Amino acid sequence: MAEMGLYVTEWPILFGADAAGVVKKVGEGVTNVAVGDKVLHAGTFADPAVKTFQQYVVMHSDFVAKVPSNITLDQAATIPLTLATAALGLYDKKQKPFGGIGLTAPWLEGGRGKYAGQPIFIIGGATGVGQHTIQLAKLSGFSPIIVTASPSNTAYLQSLGATHVLDRHTPLSELPALVRALTPAPINVGYDALGYPETQQALLDVVAPGGDILTVRDVALDAAALAARGTYVGRVFADVQMPAHRQVGLGLYQHLTQMLEAGEVKPTRLEVLPGGLEGIPEGLQRLKKGVSALKFVARPHETA
Ligand SMILES: NC(=O)c1ccc[n+]([C@@H]2O[C@H](COP(=O)([O-])OP(=O)(O)OC[C@H]3O[C@@H](n4cnc5c(N)ncnc54)[C@H](OP(=O)(O)O)[C@@H]3O)[C@@H](O)[C@H]2O)c1
Repeated sequence: MAEMGLYVTEWPILFGADAAGVVKKVGEGVTNVAVGDKVLHAGTFADPAVKTFQQYVVMHSDFVAKVPSNITLDQAATIPLTLATAALGLYDKKQKPFGGIGLTAPWLEGGRGKYAGQPIFIIGGATGVGQHTIQLAKLSGFSPIIVTASPSNTAYLQSLGATHVLDRHTPLSELPALVRALTPAPINVGYDALGYPETQQALLDVVAPGGDILTVRDVALDAAALAARGTYVGRVFADVQMPAHRQVGLGLYQHLTQMLEAGEVKPTRLEVLPGGLEGIPEGLQRLKKGVSALKFVARPHETA
């Protein structure tokens, strides 16, 4: 965000969207959490007051969930943004400029297992977004759940719910045939968790005419080609606090503790950065070079 100037209004500025920690104070009328509770929360891009690369954060209680004892605070901090990106893609309504594809969320009546027997295809299964999309797709009943990733991540992604992992180094042009060999059912739902022009095109080539696809970056597909195939593209933006996405965000946060406790939503693999907040710049450099199915966590209280 610093390099691209995203939401940078002035310098110096705080960044950071995800966090987990212990509640120190609650506002009037807050009943879902109390002082001393371990919690995680979803940040927002719009409000500079809720950036998380700092020791204390003010957060709207609607988007705070208790962390159950089977998950550490470090693990909890890996969850909010990429889980929101997965959830808003699959379950937010079809809307522009940002939205989803309007599936019924598993926490709503009739949502759990609703899409049983329907395949889903995810490009970038090992990204944080991909990992959470796999988990939600499983709760929604999708099967098979076919993803692309490095073969070294196969067992890990299968433990999250992926049924088939295709080597992401395979030429993208070969994906339609590889997917067809795995399921005779048409692929009506696809999620591109990378969002590059070439991965968007590869997803379009796999998804059946009339299907719905999602991308985490701006749509790079030809509008006429999309219209000819009757394909809808949702461009996801993971801010659960924005009024347009709030409804799905509220549902997610009301049910999140339960889903974490049941192991239905799992944290991402993580590494704690040394030096607290001072470890973040080096962590960002390592991210740029590329890490595999891994998130970095900084502990602000360890800053020198
Ligand atoms: N729209 C939004 O609101 C929003 C929110 C969050 C993130 N995003 C975007 O979503 C994307 C993913 O973010 P993230 O944080 O989830 O990613 P991430 O965890 O940093 O992604 C790392 C993973 O990307 C995978 N990868 C890289 N190139 C690939 C390829 N060609 N095919 C398949 N997998 C590939 C690697 O998989 P292997 O290790 O298996 O090789 C690696 O493990 C980014 O573009 C990010 O900017 C958007």
